[in-house]
Amino acid sequence: MDDLVNLVYSYEQEKAIELFEEGYNIFITGAAGTGKSIIVKKIIKVSNNSLIALAPTGIAALSIKGHTLHSYFGIKVGYENIVYNNKQMTDIIKACISMRNKVVDYFLDEVNSVYNILIVEFKKILYNYIFKIVSNNQKKTDIWRKIKRTKKIIIDEISMISGDLFCLLDIVCCIIKKKKEYFGGMQIVACGDFFQLPPVIKNEHKNCIKYTHVFQTPIWSMFEDNTVVLEYIYRQEGCNDFKELLCRLRIGQLTNSDIDILKSRIIHCEKDIPRLLCKKDEVLEYNNKKLNLLKTENISINADFYGNEELLIQLKKQFSDIGLFKLNLKVGARVLLCRNIGDGLVNGSLGIIHSIRDSSIEVIFDNIPIPISIKKEKWELEDVDNKTVAVGIQFPLLISYAITIHKAQGLTLEEACISIDNLFTPHQAYVGLSRVKSLEGLYIQNKYKDINKNILCSVYPHIINYYNRFNKKQI
Ligand SMILES: Nc1ncnc2c1ncn2[C@@H]1O[C@H](COP(=O)(O)OP(=O)(O)O)[C@@H](O)[C@H]1O
Ligand SMILES: [Mg+2]
Repeated sequence: MDDLVNLVYSYEQEKAIELFEEGYNIFITGAAGTGKSIIVKKIIKVSNNSLIALAPTGIAALSIKGHTLHSYFGIKVGYENIVYNNKQMTDIIKACISMRNKVVDYFLDEVNSVYNILIVEFKKILYNYIFKIVSNNQKKTDIWRKIKRTKKIIIDEISMISGDLFCLLDIVCCIIKKKKEYFGGMQIVACGDFFQLPPVIKNEHKNCIKYTHVFQTPIWSMFEDNTVVLEYIYRQEGCNDFKELLCRLRIGQLTNSDIDILKSRIIHCEKDIPRLLCKKDEVLEYNNKKLNLLKTENISINADFYGNEELLIQLKKQFSDIGLFKLNLKVGARVLLCRNIGDGLVNGSLGIIHSIRDSSIEVIFDNIPIPISIKKEKWELEDVDNKTVAVGIQFPLLISYAITIHKAQGLTLEEACISIDNLFTPHQAYVGLSRVKSLEGLYIQNKYKDINKNILCSVYPHIINYYNRFNKKQI
């Protein structure tokens, strides 16, 4: 891992490594660019790869050479749509999360209680709708066995993981490990900044959730005595004014002169630099626009589908959301791989299309100098019995001149053009603007040519409360 060579770690960074080596559960936090992910990589290195590295998005997982949380734990894609659209399932999940110890006691010792029926229903939901840890004949899957062998887990970008999912992961680990301690006694290192993006929860599901952020869950007490706050910001090294501006933006306290500085960066940008946009629709539109500028032939490839009608509706919707329903590709186009296919090629890898054939597309990836042949992949939706009943087939490639701010969380960029036109969630502006290393590298796109201080400074009050427990100076 080249980026660790010759680094001199700060006192807090060293402390985090030490606590990990001593076997503690730790939470590493601090502003954007304080070197949290660098410490994640260092910890992976000192652990001699005895540690599983996870992150909520493909790109964040890629940067630590880890897996997405969904692929590692076998979390079924889109499970929220099924369980949270069902009031009974929602109530059962909420209730069982609240009585975690009783649930774990039941699973481990079959301790009888008045809640038996409820817990049995909860188990069905876990096994049938949320996790791929048992097969249709209730046999343990490879995912179960993999978790069973795991002793240590490190999770980066923890702010994007919902508290409820965190609770479910804890219970699943206890079941698999047959131990009552949090996460079945595994050593957990969590890493992230709650002043960055919150978990993505659809509006219609907001009321179905018990805990939005992981720190609101009772489990979070496992890190109480071992939270390390990184203070020194490395990303904007040498740009102190910009660094301080970002620190004020982080806690929602921009000054009028900060606003003037940001206004001075609203510059029309024609340069071929990464675009970070707020919404998925905007990203699709921008990518299409860039694709149209290429002189090469446009090749449209429709996804193929087969299976159960009803589930196909859901699968097709997911394909449209991601942009896989109908691919429009051209030789020379910038693409992102959206599937893990091995050999260093993972969900999040970027490259340029070299050639397009019926059965394969050759891509030159940024980290591999020769063309790699990419074949079509299957995406499957399963019914309650885990029998595959709807299948979609498509090349796992997406045009990627622009990405969402959500996907960019974790990146360090020399230059970027960031749109603040359609901010829709607190902390989003901070994540976008804090990706670049200097004010000179920052281009802001804003159709109104103005900066709305209130929207930019939108911060959840409970995050401020959480961080108030640390020394003021450490926030
Ligand atoms: N101890 C250090 N010395 C020098 N540069 C560092 C150090 N720690 C981190 N960096 C650099 O700072 C930038 C941001 O680090 P990163 O780990 O991505 O921050 P975070 O995850 O907290 O947002 C990266 O370019 C990284 O190489
Ligand atoms: Mg990071």
